[in-house]
Amino acid sequence: MTESAGPWKRFETEHDVPPDVNTDEVSIARLYDFCLGGKDNYAVDRAAVHAMTEVVPEMPLLAVANRYFIRQAVRYLVAEAGIRQIVDIGSGLPTAGNVHEIAQAIDPGVRVVYVDNDPIVLAHGRALLATDASTTVIKADLREPDVIFDHPETRRLIDADEPFAVLLGGILMHLEDEEDPEGIAAAIRERIPSGGYLLVSNTCDTGESRARELNRVFAESGLGSRCFRTWDEQIRYFDGLELVAPGLVPNSEWRPGPDLPDPDNSTHAMHIGGVGRKP
Ligand SMILES: C[S@@+](CC[C@H](N)C(=O)[O-])C[C@H]1O[C@@H](n2cnc3c(N)ncnc32)[C@H](O)[C@@H]1O
Repeated sequence: MTESAGPWKRFETEHDVPPDVNTDEVSIARLYDFCLGGKDNYAVDRAAVHAMTEVVPEMPLLAVANRYFIRQAVRYLVAEAGIRQIVDIGSGLPTAGNVHEIAQAIDPGVRVVYVDNDPIVLAHGRALLATDASTTVIKADLREPDVIFDHPETRRLIDADEPFAVLLGGILMHLEDEEDPEGIAAAIRERIPSGGYLLVSNTCDTGESRARELNRVFAESGLGSRCFRTWDEQIRYFDGLELVAPGLVPNSEWRPGPDLPDPDNSTHAMHIGGVGRKP
């Protein structure tokens, strides 16, 4: 994580905590940051990861492979699909190879709106706002798509009449059934114009007992009780879209490059992702 922090502000010590950041409760963004080898996490987040690795020792590989998938998919969207605008909902903390860095390395004109509901993500993003006119970060909630798409910053950077991509990397999994993840995915698909794309990735219930056990620990950690939904449940997020090959597959199988970490590890099956195009 440290090698490519880019323009993001960094906190030097655990004592330098933004006032609205709660270090007593697990944060999804910070837990994920720890799995990726980052430093923006606290004891409570690390303890949750340790509980998860008691059940599945390779659990952090799921985060690493998901991040790898995001990078591969963003390269595809910009270099091959011609996308020049991206809304990344549940963007998480900065890491090696942030979406705007991957995209703007291909075309510096790509515009990116990062969205997250965790105050620590916004705190890191403030410096980004000051240094990059094509990239912004807003604090908003996935459960309110209209607030996201009608936000002045989104309107400033995203031309709603031109194709854009929405990234939902590792976020729908944190919604409970009663929060209607399928309905929210549908509302977001509605906003995407013809020729635009939706990316979705989540942990997956493969039917293995260790996936079920891991789901239990995720729930006990406060990350949500339905983090591991089945492939059949998740394919519905792409209703009405044309799936880009190879479809909704383990992150490790989505157009992997030679640098994919630990390619033969069976744990990869527990995190799946795909990209769909709106006809
Ligand atoms: C597991 S991280 C994934 C980060 C990144 N999208 C990726 O795939 O590499 C999930 C992120 O979603 C954010 N998140 C979770 N629920 C959210 C919600 N209801 N609204 C907005 N962001 C949310 C968390 O704060 C966290 O940063």
